[in-house]
Amino acid sequence: MEFPHGVPPWNVPVIETDRFRLRAYRDSDVERTIEVSNDELSLQWLSKIPQPFGRPEAERYIASRHEGLASGDRVTWVIADPASDELLGDVSVAGLLSGDSGELGYCAHPAARGRGLVTAAVGRVIEQAFLPVDQGGLGRRRLELVAARGNLASIKVAQSNGFTQTGVRRAADRRRDGSYEDLLTFDLLSEEHRAGRLPG
Ligand SMILES: CC(C)(COP(=O)(O)OP(=O)(O)OC[C@H]1O[C@@H](n2cnc3c(N)ncnc32)[C@H](O)[C@@H]1OP(=O)(O)O)[C@@H](O)C(=O)NCCC(=O)NCCS
Repeated sequence: MEFPHGVPPWNVPVIETDRFRLRAYRDSDVERTIEVSNDELSLQWLSKIPQPFGRPEAERYIASRHEGLASGDRVTWVIADPASDELLGDVSVAGLLSGDSGELGYCAHPAARGRGLVTAAVGRVIEQAFLPVDQGGLGRRRLELVAARGNLASIKVAQSNGFTQTGVRRAADRRRDGSYEDLLTFDLLSEEHRAGRLPG
């Protein structure tokens, strides 16, 4: 893809719904980011979260979200409470500089899980990812994601949003205890999304 100034013109539009707001990261998200990154389930499935994870690590994480946007490689939305604006989770689309695919990643604050919020937020981000660039979207043709075989909540989020399992990377995910787990790979094509193909 060629862009006039070398860097893609991604933006992080605020997307309002009754249940959540999607917006860019702010410095005030530090405390909630610390909570997410010290949560047992986050640590179980996101093995790259550094430990210990305090204020410097949270500030680094938020800075990396801004850097990803500035370089054009990643766009991240915070899922925020529509009334308090408190962080409830995040959804990102990465790998934007190499071709017209994108890799989805997501997580939820422990207090916000199990309410269908991430499933719905991922659905809105998918719409934005497939929207043509000249309409303010990310112009993606294809989205992919990976989830550890045992991460049933993550797999459910993918399936509920129409992703198809495409394969298995055997023993590809190193756990903190040194063991390895299979990674399942999923993808979703823009034409499937346009056709409204969602599994039952
Ligand atoms: C994955 C994650 C973001 C899902 O968040 P969530 O708020 O629970 O998501 P939702 O409520 O939108 O949907 C979760 C679905 O998984 C189901 N689910 C949750 N835990 C489950 C489990 N242990 N076994 C089976 N299904 C489960 C829920 O019932 C729900 O299904 P539904 O759509 O039929 O109601 C959250 O668990 C998380 O933050 N995990 C840690 C980080 C992580 O794993 N990120 C993804 C890395 S690939």
